[in-house]
Amino acid sequence: MNVDYSEKIPNNVNLAGNRTLQRALEQWQPEFLNWWTDTGPEGTGNTDVYLRTAVSVEPKGWAHFDYVKMRDYRWGIFLAPAEAGRKVNFGAHKGEPAWQEVPGEYRANLRRLIVTQGDTEPASVEQQRHLGLTCPSLYDLRNLFQVNVEEGRHLWAMVYLLHAHFGRDGREEAEALLMRRSGDADNPRILGAFNEPTPDWLAFFMFTFFTDRDGKYQLCSLAESGFDPLARTCRFMLTEEAHHMFVGESGIGRVVQRTCEAMVAHKTDDVGKLRALGVIDLPTIQRYLNFHFSVTMDLFGSDVSSNAATFYTSGLKGRFDETKIDDDHLLNGAMYPVLEIRDGALVTSEAPTLNALNEKLRDDFIRDAAAGIERWNKVIEKQGIPFRLKAPHKAFHRRIGPLAAAHIDPAGNVVSAAGWEAKAAEWLPSAADQAFVASLMGRVVEPGRFANWIAPPARGVDNKPADFAYVRFG
Ligand SMILES: [Fe+2]
Ligand SMILES: [Fe+2]
Repeated sequence: MNVDYSEKIPNNVNLAGNRTLQRALEQWQPEFLNWWTDTGPEGTGNTDVYLRTAVSVEPKGWAHFDYVKMRDYRWGIFLAPAEAGRKVNFGAHKGEPAWQEVPGEYRANLRRLIVTQGDTEPASVEQQRHLGLTCPSLYDLRNLFQVNVEEGRHLWAMVYLLHAHFGRDGREEAEALLMRRSGDADNPRILGAFNEPTPDWLAFFMFTFFTDRDGKYQLCSLAESGFDPLARTCRFMLTEEAHHMFVGESGIGRVVQRTCEAMVAHKTDDVGKLRALGVIDLPTIQRYLNFHFSVTMDLFGSDVSSNAATFYTSGLKGRFDETKIDDDHLLNGAMYPVLEIRDGALVTSEAPTLNALNEKLRDDFIRDAAAGIERWNKVIEKQGIPFRLKAPHKAFHRRIGPLAAAHIDPAGNVVSAAGWEAKAAEWLPSAADQAFVASLMGRVVEPGRFANWIAPPARGVDNKPADFAYVRFG
């Protein structure tokens, strides 16, 4: 299953054995490269970056680290190994052999799932385009670029499926994936969170912690798909995704660490004093957390959704860890708690589990995210500071689904419009918060130096020291 790098498009799917497909993808390749030049990390064509590249899809030793010129990065198509005798494991087709071709009746839904996932990949690259100009260190700059090239590869992963299995419609969708732009008024990306700006590194770390984690949960659900090529593609993407979430979790952990050190050294929790010291006060970190958590909540879709039921029953998209769950994998008659607003209050009611699968995936995500937040709290606790970061209520600041109709505070109480207005600046980053964070963003590119607002990492990349020249400018 090693990857062939002598091909124009590195791959482990025997692209050379299908000349039509190969030609079609080779025609898409220069369009992808144009998109990358236009919207990928700014001004980096000649930059040498110490990057990992997938050389195999085996769990051990799949990645190779070396300097790569950004413009020469080799984006490839990699599927995890096939599982012999794999079956559809849930829904109406449970027990049938997994599909190697798209079932005709599910074609439109499957294409929609793939396009929606595929659209998030280039979107995040676009959102992060300018961050390299304000990196807090070479180590962080390298991590940013690593995330960027891998999101580019994830686009390739979805485009391969579109080209290989959806004929002309698939090729058109692949073109459209390069046409939409994050935040564009006329032709935006499909999902809300992927049209939000990522203006600073605090936002970037929050994004990779929360929004890339949504990616993990979506990919895990698609990795259960009865459509085997999709399952195998997503399984390999997940190995890359883990690093993106690490960048977010360790990034915020280091910001928190630095802030706490300043609080202890100067014996203060005064926001003004801390800001004057050039560190990001914990309440501001909490407000960024609230924002990114809430826009990520919306990515899971409506709490009660007939589409979610259809995707499941058709065998296209499973639950997180579907095959580890001990039930009938059909879910007929099962019920699941969902939230609704009744008489001006948030109440829990029940919906058929099949229709509440978005809500269930959202709950799985919340448990995982909460564990990461607790690890940040350990950093704070260690410094003896009585402050805890906390995920807001899942109904807070929602823009999708029935909860979007109400103003809900971080504790889950419905508040009036006036009540919301009065408190919004305590709950979400204000223009002043963002201006302060922006004021800290300066470019630090001397090996081993770190911006004042962030602690160095506990260890470097690929066993290299923290002062390694992770990026060399051409
Ligand atoms: Fe991705
Ligand atoms: Fe990612």
